[in-house]
Amino acid sequence: MRTTNELRIAVFPGDGIGTEVMDACLTVLQQLEHHVGGFRLITESLPAGANFYRETGTDITDEAMQKARQADAILLGAMGLPDVRFPDGTEISPHLKMRVEFGLYAGVRPVKVYPNVRSPLSDRRSREIDLVVLRESTEGLFASAGKGEVIEDREARETLVITRNTCERLFDFAFNLARRRKARGGQGHVTCVDKANVFKAFAFFRKIFKERALLYPDISTGFNYVDAMALDMVRRPWDFDVLVAENMFADILSDIGGGIMGGMGMAACAEIGDHHALFQPAHGTAPDIAGADKANPTAMFLSAAMMLEWLGNRHELEPCLRAARRLETAIETGFSKGAIQPMEFGGPHGTAEVTRAVLADFGA
Ligand SMILES: NC(=O)c1ccc[n+]([C@@H]2O[C@H](COP(=O)([O-])OP(=O)(O)OC[C@H]3O[C@@H](n4cnc5c(N)ncnc54)[C@H](O)[C@@H]3O)[C@@H](O)[C@H]2O)c1
Repeated sequence: MRTTNELRIAVFPGDGIGTEVMDACLTVLQQLEHHVGGFRLITESLPAGANFYRETGTDITDEAMQKARQADAILLGAMGLPDVRFPDGTEISPHLKMRVEFGLYAGVRPVKVYPNVRSPLSDRRSREIDLVVLRESTEGLFASAGKGEVIEDREARETLVITRNTCERLFDFAFNLARRRKARGGQGHVTCVDKANVFKAFAFFRKIFKERALLYPDISTGFNYVDAMALDMVRRPWDFDVLVAENMFADILSDIGGGIMGGMGMAACAEIGDHHALFQPAHGTAPDIAGADKANPTAMFLSAAMMLEWLGNRHELEPCLRAARRLETAIETGFSKGAIQPMEFGGPHGTAEVTRAVLADFGA
């Protein structure tokens, strides 16, 4: 339990719509702080990303990494631009460095359909979709990022890594998440998503999952190969609760999640480790709509709500928990009353208007 209610937040707006949704989010957080009371966020905006690389030749400074390390939480917009690349052809993505550097192994990506947001799935049960894709975020195929090789322009190799240490923590996180969701009326079910029929690494992943499952007899389990999971996320996503998967598999599945809940502007994300956590929308910098007040800031706001909840639980700060619920309620109410109709879904509201609707719900 900490003795102060002041929390330091390292803020990385990033590039493209990242900066737009972050501006909106900081306004919302400031007003929340004012209306809920009992906590104070000390935010510091730090440069990093593709534009910063273009200007300086560096994607992120050691100083900014250090400030992120010392902060109570990291809040990020989105980073990277398709036309700004390192000499090896890969994109500028310092947020991937942070995942590894800060041990953010648990990528929590809720998939939930909000009132009046039409899922592209025509089945009426699509309104009941409420699952979480839990993405291992430090190893798997991404362990090879920056280390892959192209041999004499003939073949390319990347190596996938699965470790017992990370899997045990990841699965414990999954079962505890399912428990918390069960306490709020959820199914209490974890599905292990892998490709254990073909690869030893995934048979190992599944073996560790089964070992850890024994410690959580109150939570039921299931298994799905990743290809079948892609099918089921379209065919019957309402049947699932927590899905846990390797980094690359869950990266792809969480975009299917973004699709079935209407669009990436609804896709929030928390990346959590034992000592640090980073919160960002799951979408990218959307160069196709950047600078036009068209971005849906909802995913950014929901990610900020996840940050407040994590901080509240970690530091036993009840006001932060209240602020998280207040923000979620404002968003839910905005969608159900039609006060939030993002352009992303053909509505009239751009970033500024969605932000105004959320602030109006606080009475600001
Ligand atoms: N975590 C990150 O920072 C992150 C994640 C993914 C992609 N990227 C980077 O972003 C850049 C663009 O990538 P992309 O086009 O593949 O993915 P993207 O998520 O930026 O865009 C995909 C599609 O979704 C739409 N979209 C995304 N977020 C939206 C929002 N909030 N409101 C309305 N529409 C939204 C875009 O307009 C686009 O049509 C690339 O440089 C990529 O590397 C960064």
